[in-house]
Amino acid sequence: MRNRAIAVLMLVTVAACGDPPLAPEAARAAAAKIWAERCVSCHGVNGRGDGPGAKLLPVKPRNFGDGAWQRDTEDSRIAQVIVDGGMSVGLDRNMAANPDLRTKPEVVTALVELIRGL
Ligand code: HEC
Repeated sequence: MRNRAIAVLMLVTVAACGDPPLAPEAARAAAAKIWAERCVSCHGVNGRGDGPGAKLLPVKPRNFGDGAWQRDTEDSRIAQVIVDGGMSVGLDRNMAANPDLRTKPEVVTALVELIRGL
């Protein structure tokens, strides 16, 4: 009886928390997929700010390969821009929010790592 109560409690807990976090490798794969599907159109495959959609933007995305920007920018700021959008830190509104990633911090971390490697 007690075991059953514990099992029910665990099920409820899992349901309340949503999907369990992905392992690092799976998180990196998910981040690479998101980068290709949601980011490359503006930022370009290598993050140079030269995606096909960038031409149409009034404010161009920066070159993520810029060493000074990499050095002066906190991981937490990159993560915030990704999840809450550019406007959350005073950047252009065309940098949209990705609210679905709010519950996937491990994928956001992997996206930040990906940007760090560009
Ligand atoms: C519709 C075009 C567009 C898409 C799609 C897009 N971005 Fe952006 N992004 C921008 C623009 C434009 C800026 C620059 C805003 C500014 O400098 O005011 C920006 C800025 C950023 C910044 C902040 C850079 C800084 O100056 O601090 C990060 C980080 C970023 N984008 C990551 C991403 C990621 C990751 C994705 C995919 C999930 C993505 N962006 C998708 C247009 C886009």
